[in-house]
Amino acid sequence: MMNPRKVILDCDPGHDDAISLILAAANDKLKIEAITTVAGNVEVDKTTLNALRVCDIIGLDVPVAEGSNRPMVNERQIAESIHGDSGLDGPNLPEVPSRKAIDQHAVDLIIEKVLASDGDITLVPTGPLTNIAMAMVKEPKIVPKIQEIVIMGGGTFGNWTPAAEFNIWVDAEAAKVVFESGVPLAVFGLDVTHQAQATAETIERFGKIDTKVAEFVVELLHFFKKTYKEVFDFDGAPIHDACTVAYLIDPSIFEMKHVRVDIETKGEFAYGMTCVDLLSVTGREPNAYYGVGLQQEKFWDLLAEALASYK
Ligand code: RIB
Ligand code: CA
Repeated sequence: MMNPRKVILDCDPGHDDAISLILAAANDKLKIEAITTVAGNVEVDKTTLNALRVCDIIGLDVPVAEGSNRPMVNERQIAESIHGDSGLDGPNLPEVPSRKAIDQHAVDLIIEKVLASDGDITLVPTGPLTNIAMAMVKEPKIVPKIQEIVIMGGGTFGNWTPAAEFNIWVDAEAAKVVFESGVPLAVFGLDVTHQAQATAETIERFGKIDTKVAEFVVELLHFFKKTYKEVFDFDGAPIHDACTVAYLIDPSIFEMKHVRVDIETKGEFAYGMTCVDLLSVTGREPNAYYGVGLQQEKFWDLLAEALASYK
C-alpha cells in the first residue's frame, strides 16, 4: 500500500461538502491533515459548526480551523436557498458539536502545514477559494510546496448566473489568484458534477446500507434533492464536491482534459465565469486538468462502499 495522500479539505458544508468529507474519511488512500472552513453556502460560523458536527457523526478527530467569512473584494453572498438556513438542513443534528474549532485561522493553518511539509499536501477546496488565495498572498513560499489543488468549481455554464458557478462567482478574485498560481490543478466544474446526480434510486440504494452514517447521508440527500427539484427542476441532487475526493481515490472514474482555464473578474454578465478553453483556441498554456466525464456506476459504488464501511 502506497503512503496515503495528505489532504486539507477546505469547505463550506453544505450537503455535498459533508458527503465529500464522509467519503474522504472512509478511504485509507487519503489522510486528512485538517479541515478548513470558509463562508459560502452559509456564513463561516455555520460552515464551521457543520464541519464539526459531521466530524462527530463519523468519529473524525482532525483539526478544524475556521477561515474567511467574506470574499477578498466583494460582499459575502450565501446559498441558503439550496442548503437551508443552517447550511445542513434536513437531518436532526446535535445543536452543539463535541469540540470547538482550533484557535488558529484557516489561512494560517494552511500556511503552517504546507511550509512544514515535504511538498506532499494536496488542497481540496469545495467552496469559494478565499482561504486558498489569502494563504498564497500572505505567504507566497507555499505556492511551490502545494502538491496539487483539486477544486470543485466553475463550468462551461453557470448555476448562480448564466455564466458563473457559485463557488467561483462568490470570490472570482480569489479564483484568479489560484488559477494563475502555477500550482497543478484538477478542476471539477458543473460539466462533470451534474453527471453525479443522486436520484431516488441512489437514495433507495443508500437507504439499504445499515450504518448510522448511511442514514445521515440519506437524510441529507432527501433535503438536497428536494431543493434541487424546487430551484432547478432536477430529478437528482448533484453531489458536486464528492467528485474531488473520488478523483483522488480513483482518477480512472473521470475523463479529464488538460486545458487553459481563465477567470473573468470584470464582466457585467460574465463575472465569475471560468473560461474553459476546451478547443485550445487561445493558444494559452494549459493550467488545469478539467473534468468532462464520469463513470457513474464506479462513482456510486465508491460512495456506497464508504457508507457501508462506517460501523
Ligand atoms: O455550485 C456548487 C458548489 O456550491 C458546491 O460546492 C456547493 O457545496 C456550493 O458550495
Ligand atoms: Ca461546497
